Amino acid sequence: MDKILVTGGLGFIGSHTVVELQEAGYEVVIIDDLSNSSENVLDGITTITGKTPIFEKIDLKEKDTVEAFFKKHSDVKGVIHFAASKAVGESVQKPLLYYENNIGTLVYLLKELKNLPEASFIFSSSCTVYGQADELPITESAPVKKAESPYGNTKQIGEEIIRDTCKVVPTLKAIALRYFNPIGAHPSTEIGELPIGVPQNLVPFITQTAIGIREQLSVFGDDYPTPDGTCIRDYIHVVDLAKAHVVALERLLKNKNKATYETFNLGTGKGSSVLEVINSFERVSGKKLNYKIVGRREGDITAAYADTTNANQVLGWKTQISLDEAMLSAWKWEQKVRG
Ligand code: WQD
Repeated sequence: MDKILVTGGLGFIGSHTVVELQEAGYEVVIIDDLSNSSENVLDGITTITGKTPIFEKIDLKEKDTVEAFFKKHSDVKGVIHFAASKAVGESVQKPLLYYENNIGTLVYLLKELKNLPEASFIFSSSCTVYGQADELPITESAPVKKAESPYGNTKQIGEEIIRDTCKVVPTLKAIALRYFNPIGAHPSTEIGELPIGVPQNLVPFITQTAIGIREQLSVFGDDYPTPDGTCIRDYIHVVDLAKAHVVALERLLKNKNKATYETFNLGTGKGSSVLEVINSFERVSGKKLNYKIVGRREGDITAAYADTTNANQVLGWKTQISLDEAMLSAWKWEQKVRG
């Protein structure tokens, strides 16, 4: 049974990916520094799969600790790297924290993988690298634009570091997965999104407003050039996203990759506006959401949704979960955690 390292494996997407890896028969070891997650997520994972992954609390900024980890786990066959800081707004205020945490740690990881007999590496990237794409839906060949934030820049730089390393390390192959907007929670309601403080993202703010933690949702602008004036995004259920990681990893483990470095957009291929997401929530929850239209949020792009042809045809993966099902899973999770 291949051993797979999942960094950031107690986080939102990481924990759902650990579940899918275990259910696919892999042995999982998690590295997490618990800066944006909690150790009791392990209980949720164990409840779902009946297996407790190995967990090591490690800060990937500590080079010696990373080295020691790979001496102890030299049988790691693949790495799925989620661990990173990911708040766009915070990255503008604290750029050095983001460059150190998102870039420095990636370099340390890759230096260790270079020494393994062979290594398959899956990188958590983001549609943020495209900025406001000129054409919709967005394909992987769309130009990577100047990042709107240090966070987005760390994803762009991260992809370049991996691509350049794969060119000269014959035993290393990698796939960058460019996520659109991950939402929802595991159908078991044992794991889900646990935003710390005031949620930056739309869906947790909706569910926290509906359950009474937040007074009212502010809709950031309805004067965009879209059918209803609000921004359009591609909201993908986190379990669909997690399954794509297992498929991408297996492509590398089984040497099906056509190049040493590939990228795939992970989305539903369908755009939904903020108002459509709100309507979906009201439909599935039966609750009227308290929201108001306010001014635009700095840095928001008008529209982004994925052309998923590459992932569908090359990975043989496509999303199965609808927006309504995703919103219902988010609502059930909110009720479980706060109810
Ligand atoms: C979605 C839409 C907002 C909150 C970010 C990161 C991206 C990725 C996903 C990491 C926008 C509107 C939001 C609110 C609102 N993260 N909104 N009121 O900005 O598309 O993407 O998260 O990889 O990198 O940039 O997601 O959920 O913040 O916003 O009206 O209280 O909802 O204006 O149109 P975003 P989001």
